[in-house]
Amino acid sequence: MTEVIDGDAVAAEVRESLTESIETLEAAGVTPGLATVLMSDDPASETYVSMKQRDCEEVGIDGVHVELDPETPAEELYDTIEDLNGDPSVHGILVQMPVPDHVDDRRVLRAIDPVKDVDGFHPENVGRLVAGNDRYRPCTPHGVQKLLAAYDVETEGADAVIVGRSDIVGKPLANLLLQKREDGNATVTVCHSRTDDLAAKTRDADILVAAAGRPEFIDGEMVGEGATVVDVGVNRVDADTEKGYELVGDVDYDSAREKADHITPVPGGVGPMTRAMLLYNTVKAAGLQEDVEVALP
Ligand code: GUN
Repeated sequence: MTEVIDGDAVAAEVRESLTESIETLEAAGVTPGLATVLMSDDPASETYVSMKQRDCEEVGIDGVHVELDPETPAEELYDTIEDLNGDPSVHGILVQMPVPDHVDDRRVLRAIDPVKDVDGFHPENVGRLVAGNDRYRPCTPHGVQKLLAAYDVETEGADAVIVGRSDIVGKPLANLLLQKREDGNATVTVCHSRTDDLAAKTRDADILVAAAGRPEFIDGEMVGEGATVVDVGVNRVDADTEKGYELVGDVDYDSAREKADHITPVPGGVGPMTRAMLLYNTVKAAGLQEDVEVALP
């Protein structure tokens, strides 16, 4: 029987276990604060950011939201980040990616104070992660690790194949699964658009992570018997629904499920974990900046 990995349930557990840390902070007179910055009119980005703000409210994190018109000069975004860096009530800063073309996204990531970089995208934090000394694990890869652990999927000694080499998911997840740690110690292969004979590689995976942003392109033929399939994709495809679209992953769920031992659905798999791990990093950020020891799940 294939076990469907319930991301909503695991995310709820993470949120629940964070409440104790938030109470510890409150007792020390600290309310954790997260600033989100949106410079885009992409409806998906708008939805993600508003969900992140709602999550904050639910767990007792102060949310600040800054919205900039996509036409705004880039300097204004850099100045906004500077202001948030200097605001002691803001412990975490997240600039929703992608930003418009006239903005230098590398400069944006460098501009965020690394201690407030709850995405873990600042070069200092990327370097720390690669070196095995992470401060903030990027939310989606960390969420994937938590899901695997929650379902007792061993990474140690496993062949993990990641399809997609993005800076947000593929690269950091590859590094995390490679670390000499209980939730790492995998043999990691990273595949991408130029990979030769992709199916041969994905079929060999004990843990197959689809993070390429291509709707339903990993099908059952590409999944080995008994694999754990983690679908990071969130693709809007036209559909005869009220909204005019539906969300599908990078995995063709029905055919992949026939082969897999464990599989994450879309929605309800990795997505809720990304949001929960952002709260986790924000609580961690508040503890670090306010010198309060917080227990983290
Ligand atoms: N865009 C897509 N995923 C992410 C994420 O995890 N963080 C930010 N800042 N932008 C994103």
